[in-house]
This record gives sequence, structure tokens and C-alpha cells, in this order.
Amino acid sequence: MNRLYNALQLKRLYQLKQLGVQYVPLVEKRASVQRSLPSDLKALEQIVSQCQLCSLSKTRTKTVFGEGNPNAELMFVGEGPGAQEDTSGRPFVGRAGELLTKMIENAIEIPRSEVYITNIVKCRPPNNRVPTPEEAYTCLPYLQKQIELVSPRIIVALGATAYHYLTGDKTGISKVRGEVIEMDGFKLVPTYHPSYLLRNPSAKKEVYQDLLKIKRLLCEN
Ligand code: URA
Repeated sequence: MNRLYNALQLKRLYQLKQLGVQYVPLVEKRASVQRSLPSDLKALEQIVSQCQLCSLSKTRTKTVFGEGNPNAELMFVGEGPGAQEDTSGRPFVGRAGELLTKMIENAIEIPRSEVYITNIVKCRPPNNRVPTPEEAYTCLPYLQKQIELVSPRIIVALGATAYHYLTGDKTGISKVRGEVIEMDGFKLVPTYHPSYLLRNPSAKKEVYQDLLKIKRLLCEN
């Protein structure tokens, strides 16, 4: 999470530089950034539903906050809502979502309702394009707060976008998938996004190995 925080601070400093500011005496402390958001998932969801901080708010139908067990040990983070998610307001309910549900229930062998599922951005990018850095960094404080409140032991980054914005690392997903990365308060396991698996079914066997690893991690104390 420190890397997320640093990325947000960097973005803020660039914005200040564009405004002509040459010296910032004190960078806002991480705690105070998070304190401005409510420490309650329902209240946070309400704030997200009103969010107009980036242009995705202009084209969305519904915000897609996330769903699942508010005390989940396991969290999945995708990229951003697609068409069906935008209409329903729920994450991963389309074809990729059906596959994600199978991954959770058949390979990890826990009910989908036991985990927490969310995305990097909470509004659908038009034509399912990848969120811009501006959109992702603007939305990240919501994800940071969700992570803080749910406090999962393990977070699965689904695909390159989730991995990139959760870590700040631009290494390709095929190089890092299946690794267990110690983050600030949780273990991060990147794997391929279910949409990629729908287009490349031969990658399912690698993801199956990643899911078995996640299942083993969940059994550890
Ligand atoms: N793809 C994502 O990354 N997230 C969703 O919620 C659905 C599809």
C-alpha cells in the first residue's frame, strides 16, 4: 500500500507543479488521506455512488463498488466494470464473472459469497478500454479504504492493470503470475484476468496452479 500512497502523492505533486508551485513543505500523511473517507463500507459505498471525480462518472450507468464478505480473508481485484456490471451495479457478473465464480468455487473450494470482489476503477470505462492512469489513481483511495476495512490476508490481482496499480510495478503479468508478494499487511498473488482466460483457454492450467497456491496460503495460520 505504501507504493499506492507514493503514486498518489506523486500525482498530487505533478498537479501542484503544473499550477506553478515550486516548494511543498510537508507531504500530507497517509493516515490523513484515508481519514477523509468513512471507516464503514456502506458509508464508503454511498460516497462512491455520488463520485464525480473523473470523466468515467459521465458515462456510467451505475457505480460498481464491490461485494462479498466484509471480513473476507481473500479479496479479488479486477480492472473495471464491463457492460453487465455497469447495468447491475455488481462486480464480475458477466462471462468473465461466471468464470471467476468457477475459479473460486471449484478450485479454491469456497463459496463466492465468502470472498470480497472489487475493481481498480468503480465505473465502466467506455468500450471496456483500460482505465487511464488519471482514472485509476483518482479511484485508488476507494480501493485503499476497502482494503483497510476488509483487511484480507490475501489479495489476488486479476490481470496486469490490477497488478500494476496495486504494486506500482510495470512488469508483465506473465512474468509475475503465481508469485506471492509480501505487501503492507497482506500477501498479493497476481494471476491472469478471467477475460484473458476466455480468449486464451490454454492459460487455465497455469491459473489453476495459482489458485491451488492461494488455497494452500489460506490454510496457513
Ligand atoms: N472485468 C473486470 O475487471 N471487472 C469486472 O467487474 C468485470 C469484468
